[in-house]
Amino acid sequence: MSRIAYVNGQYIPHANAGVHIEDRGYQFADGVYEVCEVARGNIMDMTRHLNRLDRSLSELRIGWPMNRKALQSVIAEVVRRNRVYNGMVYLQVTRGVAKRDHVFPAANTPPSIVITAKRTDPVMFAARAAKGVKVITVPENRWERVDIKSIGLLPNVMARQLAKEQGAQEAWFIDPDGTVKEGAATNAWIVTMDGVLVTRQAETGILRGITRTTIFDVAKKLGLTIEERGFSVEEAKRAREVFMTAATTVVMPIVAIDGESVANGHPGTIALSLREAFFDIAEKTPSC
Ligand code: PDD
Repeated sequence: MSRIAYVNGQYIPHANAGVHIEDRGYQFADGVYEVCEVARGNIMDMTRHLNRLDRSLSELRIGWPMNRKALQSVIAEVVRRNRVYNGMVYLQVTRGVAKRDHVFPAANTPPSIVITAKRTDPVMFAARAAKGVKVITVPENRWERVDIKSIGLLPNVMARQLAKEQGAQEAWFIDPDGTVKEGAATNAWIVTMDGVLVTRQAETGILRGITRTTIFDVAKKLGLTIEERGFSVEEAKRAREVFMTAATTVVMPIVAIDGESVANGHPGTIALSLREAFFDIAEKTPSC
C-alpha cells in the first residue's frame, strides 16, 4: 500500500508530494509542527496538541491553515488513508510561499500545511523500553524560544546525530550551570530516592511536552508526587530512575548518561508503570 500525504488541500501519493521552493518553511524554517502518537487506532491527546499548535502559531503570528474542526478531520483522514494503527502523524504549518524576503509576506498569503503519517512497530518500542536507552549531554546552543514548536531544529539534529555516533539514543541540552534542560526531541525526568518525580518547570527553556503534561494526570492517578524544578546532571546520575517523554517514545527509561550507568543500569519500575498507565489516561480520538 502506498503512503498518502496531505499537502495544501490535496491528498497525494507520498512519493510525489512536494512544496514550492519558495515556501518559507524551506527557506527560513518559518513554521511550526506537531507530532501526535497513534496507538491502537487512536490519535493520542489531539486536543492538547492542537492547543499547543495554536500557541506556536500565535507566537509567530502565522494564521491557521483551516479551522480547527476541519484540521482535526484531515489529521484523522491522513491516519485512516495510510492505515496507521500504531504510529505517528506529523503536521507542519509554514508562513506560506512568497518571494524570498525576511519580512512577512502579504497578509493574504495562505499558510502552507503538510500532514503525513507513518507506522511504527509497538513491539520494537516495548523491547526498547524493557531495556532502556542511553543519553549523552551537550551544551545548550538553541535559541531562547524553545517553548515554540518551531521547525528550526538544527541544534537538535546535530545533538541527536552526535548521540547516535556515541552509541546513545538521545542528547540532553545542559545549561552553563549544569542544569538539564531537555532532550533533542524529548523532555527529561528523574525519580528521587524518595520516589518523587522531578522535571524542569516549563515556563522557560524547554518545550511544554504534551506527553509531559499527560504524565501529570497519570502520576496523580497513580498517587505519585511531581516536583517541577531544575536538576543537575550529577543529581540525575544519582537518581533512583531517569526517563524521558515524548509522543514518539511515550515514557522511555534511561539507563546511562555520558557512558555512566544510572539507576543500576535497569529501567525503573515507576517509569514502566507510567508508560503502562499512559495509554489508559491520555485522550483518544479514533482515526476512523
Ligand atoms: N518532539 N522537547 C523537544 C525539544 C521536542 O522536540 C519534543 C517532541 C518534546 C516532547 O514533546 P511531546 O511530548 O509533545 O512530544 C520535548 C517531537 C516528538 C519531534 O520533534 O519529533
